[in-house]
Amino acid sequence: MANAPTITVSYPETDIAVLSLDLPDKGVNVLSTCVLNELDALMGNLETRNGLAGLIISSGKPGTFIVGADLTEFAASLESEKGRVVEMCRHGQTLFGRFSKCPFVTVAAIDGLCLGGGAEFAIWCDRRVMSDDERTEFGFPEVKLGLYPGWGGTVRAPRIVGLSNAVEMITSGEPIDAATSQTMGLISDLVPADQLLPAAIRLIRSEQTSGDYLRDRQRWSSPITITDTELGFLGATASAMIRQKTKGHYPAPESALEVMLEGSTGDAENACRLEAEGMSHLFGSPINASLLNVFFLTDRNKKDVGVDRQDVKSRDIGIVGVIGAGIMGSGIAAANIRRKIGVVITDASDAALSKGAERIIEEATYDSKAKGPTAERMSQAAPLLHLTSAYDEIAACDLVIEAVVESLDVKRKIFSELESLLGEDTILASNTSTIPITQLAEQLQRPEKFCGIHFFNPVRRMKLVEVIRGAKTDDKTIATAVAYAKRVGKMPIVVNDGPGFLVNRLLLPYMNEALELVCEGAAIKSIERAAKAFGMPMGPIELYDMVGIDTAFYAGRTMWQAFPDRTVASPILPAMIKAGRLGQKSGVGFYSYNNKKRRAQPDPELGEFLSPYIRDHKQFSEDELTCRLFLPMLLEATRALEDKLVRDPRDIDLGLIFGLGFPPFKGGLMFWADTLGAAKMVELLKPLEQIGDRMKPTPLLLEMAQGNQKFYAGA
Ligand code: NAI
Repeated sequence: MANAPTITVSYPETDIAVLSLDLPDKGVNVLSTCVLNELDALMGNLETRNGLAGLIISSGKPGTFIVGADLTEFAASLESEKGRVVEMCRHGQTLFGRFSKCPFVTVAAIDGLCLGGGAEFAIWCDRRVMSDDERTEFGFPEVKLGLYPGWGGTVRAPRIVGLSNAVEMITSGEPIDAATSQTMGLISDLVPADQLLPAAIRLIRSEQTSGDYLRDRQRWSSPITITDTELGFLGATASAMIRQKTKGHYPAPESALEVMLEGSTGDAENACRLEAEGMSHLFGSPINASLLNVFFLTDRNKKDVGVDRQDVKSRDIGIVGVIGAGIMGSGIAAANIRRKIGVVITDASDAALSKGAERIIEEATYDSKAKGPTAERMSQAAPLLHLTSAYDEIAACDLVIEAVVESLDVKRKIFSELESLLGEDTILASNTSTIPITQLAEQLQRPEKFCGIHFFNPVRRMKLVEVIRGAKTDDKTIATAVAYAKRVGKMPIVVNDGPGFLVNRLLLPYMNEALELVCEGAAIKSIERAAKAFGMPMGPIELYDMVGIDTAFYAGRTMWQAFPDRTVASPILPAMIKAGRLGQKSGVGFYSYNNKKRRAQPDPELGEFLSPYIRDHKQFSEDELTCRLFLPMLLEATRALEDKLVRDPRDIDLGLIFGLGFPPFKGGLMFWADTLGAAKMVELLKPLEQIGDRMKPTPLLLEMAQGNQKFYAGA
């Protein structure tokens, strides 16, 4: 069906044509080569048609205009030569450019998402009208893929909305809503969706009378009027802000800024050439390939129902019960309420329950634009939260999530009191971070209706949820947990039961190794620097402080008990607990937090505290530190694959990026290993093997290296 027509032409009035895009069998419109060719041919016909006053571009899909280029085609052409990339850009620019040169007025009638290549198409039109539907958004998210708009977006946007607005929009990749589009002068009219067509027709008529669009065509093909001082100031401030955000890991925003600044001083045609040339340095780069992979990971996750059988239906979740109103319970409750799901919550302590309720309302009613709660959110949220001390009210819910203290006995006691009250179909879940789900389910009457739903802290920020399958959990329970996690805006990955589940199991070897490096004499500063240079949001030592030294110790003990062959029980952690150095929460851990902003600062007493544990005074290069930190994580991932902990290596990558902050520009741990190749990983491990079993290549890694195979292949 690839060649089925996607664009229909209609004539609401004899001299006005409408091109309506509607990709068959797709939920959204994307600009594939096929669609662009069709557009090219249709435009050819329209350009030669006599007496046409205007052309309207619209979408046949309510709620989406065009979401961008076809990224599967991008992924397939990553190996293209630079010249070919320039050609692809020039082709798009020329095609869209015809919409600002043709003998009639062109208007994009935008309802819903108008992103990437779709936004470029719209911005090449003479005018834009927009629907006031809340789904309507306009933006250039290309930088999130390691690119920038290459079909004229960096040329037209600054000329239409102003250089400063365009720089902000393109370098951040963040979309704007319809109201902002109007304020910026991007659109000529803002109307209800069903009024878009009449509004576009009215606009064509008035433009034909005034001839304004012809003057704008002239203006927008010329250099931008801006003084050198303004240009210099904009360049310096924008560049500083970009550097602060990207930490030098993402080159696309800076390249976009450069082409926009340079392109502003010449005419649009010259700017288009610069844009295409600059794009050839970004397209196909390892960062572009990695970020595209992250896009495909998230896209795949959206479609994954969590089970392989297609006939399993998830059950609807109306109201959710939460037991425990601490950090996690209140975060989970707030996430539900934000998505308009009713919550019944309880806690053993009245004080904890009322404190938790305050946190829930504060979080659920927070409005990022108002930077605080709004009356509207408050009136929506309040009726959705019910506090109780009665288990039968909790049991009446469709899903009950337990988030009480991390104690097998306490959790089991709750389940035994609760289970007989639960409805036939009610799903019971635990948010435990370390206790095996199968063990928690041992005394349950209906273990098939029990699973882990492991949210990450802080719930409002962390996208990942691990849905953990116990030995007896059934498919319907898993499918329901997955569908539910998506409803609360999360990315669920299904993980088989096991110590540390997936993310913590892979995190621990990395954390463990950081402490070993300290004992061997590596400076904490160097360890942190190596991790951050690799792209981690913070170093492993600061992460210890954030997690809490006691929590890290207990989690580490679980891993040590499960995998004594490869976990080193560091004496540092128990000593720190004994000394009250619990990390951020106690004001001192590896760092000191006794300052106004509670930021990590070097603790002058740490050196002396650690000295009894420093066994050696080795020197490490940054590369050595990187290998020591990340190869154990990779090895553990290959063991997790050998244990069939996840259904696909891609789940590991999604889990680490969205659960740990593994650098997206590396595409994920397995993607990174694939990029370098398994043989290279084995080679990097060679000098480390004498350290012990934990650094020995696993059978899976050796097999991949020998067969020159990739983790992503065939999965
Ligand atoms: P927390 O200590 O903040 O809250 C636990 C709450 O449970 C307290 O309010 C306590 O009063 C209540 N509670 C204790 N016994 C109870 C009982 N019998 N019935 C009802 N309520 C009871 O703990 P947090 O951090 O929220 O952890 C909860 C669970 O989530 C634990 O299983 C933990 O392992 C897990 N988890 C924690 C994460 C974290 O970073 N804090 C991350 C992911 C999971």
